[in-house]
Amino acid sequence: MKKLLIILYALCLSLTATAASGAAISIIPQPASLVQKDGNFKLTKHTAISVPADEEMLRIAGFLNGKLRTAAGWELKTDSGAQQDVIVFTRLNSLSSEHYRVKVDEHRIEIDYGDGAGAFYALQTLFQLLPEEIFAQTRQKGVKWTVPCCEIEDGPRFAYRGMHLDCCLHFFTIEFLKKYIDEMALHKVNRFHWHLTEDQGWRLEIKKYPLLTEKGQWRKETVIGSLKSGIYDGTPHGGYYSQEEVRDLVKYAAERYVTIIPEIEMPGHALAAISCYPELSCGLEDHYETATKWGVFKQVFCPKDETFKFLEDVMDEVFELFPSKLVHIGGDECPKASWKQCEHCQALIKELGLKDEFELQSWFICRMEKYINSKGHEIIGWDEILQGGLAPNAKVMSWLGEEGGIKAAQQHHEVVMAPYPKYYLDYWQGDPDSEPLAMGGPTTLRTMYDYEPVPAVLTPEEQKYIIGVEGCVWTEYMPTPARVEYMAWPRMCAIAEAGWTTAGKDWDGFTRRLEKHFGRLDYMGVGSCRAFFSPFIEFHPDTPQDKVVTISVDAPDAEIHYTLDGSIPTAASPKYEKPFVINRQQKVTAIAIRNGRQIGDIKYKTF
Ligand code: ACM
Ligand code: ZN
Repeated sequence: MKKLLIILYALCLSLTATAASGAAISIIPQPASLVQKDGNFKLTKHTAISVPADEEMLRIAGFLNGKLRTAAGWELKTDSGAQQDVIVFTRLNSLSSEHYRVKVDEHRIEIDYGDGAGAFYALQTLFQLLPEEIFAQTRQKGVKWTVPCCEIEDGPRFAYRGMHLDCCLHFFTIEFLKKYIDEMALHKVNRFHWHLTEDQGWRLEIKKYPLLTEKGQWRKETVIGSLKSGIYDGTPHGGYYSQEEVRDLVKYAAERYVTIIPEIEMPGHALAAISCYPELSCGLEDHYETATKWGVFKQVFCPKDETFKFLEDVMDEVFELFPSKLVHIGGDECPKASWKQCEHCQALIKELGLKDEFELQSWFICRMEKYINSKGHEIIGWDEILQGGLAPNAKVMSWLGEEGGIKAAQQHHEVVMAPYPKYYLDYWQGDPDSEPLAMGGPTTLRTMYDYEPVPAVLTPEEQKYIIGVEGCVWTEYMPTPARVEYMAWPRMCAIAEAGWTTAGKDWDGFTRRLEKHFGRLDYMGVGSCRAFFSPFIEFHPDTPQDKVVTISVDAPDAEIHYTLDGSIPTAASPKYEKPFVINRQQKVTAIAIRNGRQIGDIKYKTF
């Protein structure tokens, strides 16, 4: 009996992976439950769509028709009475928010959803069940628009599934931000953390303080290469978002179930604002200028009435623009040097009976939180807001490793895990020798995939305070949209999966699905990094004479072959099995091979 059960179980598993009639379904992020069946549903210009006739569902149906119109050249007609050859959307009160079910047989596709977000996510799943050409920007000829028969039940692990973009170190257009939001939405990522103010530029139009964008958007030049190069490009860099553009983007995102969380940095990372309004600083310098290189700057907001009036005015306009309950107030990397020297700051510390400048920072954040709460909004800040005591209602975005997140959860504050360097997409994803300049690392796809965002040291009760995950895209070395996409994808797929799936980690399954997913990203015009297909050679220091070498490749079913004499490896070269030692005279050259053919690039590394 036991044997029979094992055979049946194995059969079920193989059916789940691949039904006899077709290729395995591959969806990112992995649904909670997926059973593939025999056969296909054929989508044609005669297929109907049946949706409740409310504005939201008609818009969602419009997303499907929009893609079909572009890629297939036709669209589905609405027919609420059709029984066969139809896609039927049904709202079920028994399903929670963001949850959905998809049932495909040869005659119809039934989609049940809990709310608009659930219906939208069902549609993102349907897009990934269709041939990858559905993501094409132009008409595709000769495609059979089939959907494999299956049953899917799905819903998210975390409520907060975020992707950050720093638009200050480099500015990006609204057109690109819309594409970025499309990319997020496909992966069921529902929070866009928009980093809008920095030392290097202020990007948000504030009507009451026009200098912020007239002047503060600009820096006179930008450091070239690494921070220490001392070489600058001599070219002004600027750009800002008008309030009209912001409203348009907020609406665009909301229609894709993405909430935009604006970030207004305080008390640090304030140099661009201070360069416009020096009275907001501690007044220790004659002249303030927007920063031209990356880093942490001692010129921060001085905690005086003028500053709070300014920040409250800014927040009032932010609340008008962004319906998000949550606003990000930064809080990271605020050096205390100016406050230590400032007479006002020192007098304030005495007057308030504070212990030091850390407690002054906590008082600053608490005062702002009180104002923000009074307007019906809540704050989230980077984990330095824990210094000197956490504001009563604050959420924490844990970036300094996990420690801040753990501490905050233990104090029963909600936490988003965005740990450096595991979720930092400005780090190298492969060998720094062959990747574009980045902040450090490497933080490989595998490192990101393997990270478990709920720290095991937390009790089950404390673990409930981890509300989600976020991938951070700081754009020091990303001056163009193409570079942002290269750094973000495919690693962001791993973070999206960590945020969404309740099906557990499965690296092999993820790599198999990802390999297909690259085709979708290509059709969307997303230039993702393909380090996935190439060997990654790493040296681990041993002695000055020897080094231990490891070689890995992310692509499934690939073998690595290598040489040590500088010659180009072939399938006949030694196969990498386990770490080995080389000496100074040797050079490692490696290729990844699948089914006898090279995939990816040749990689080499010298001592
Ligand atoms: C950060 O990376 N400074 C949050
Ligand atoms: Zn001061």
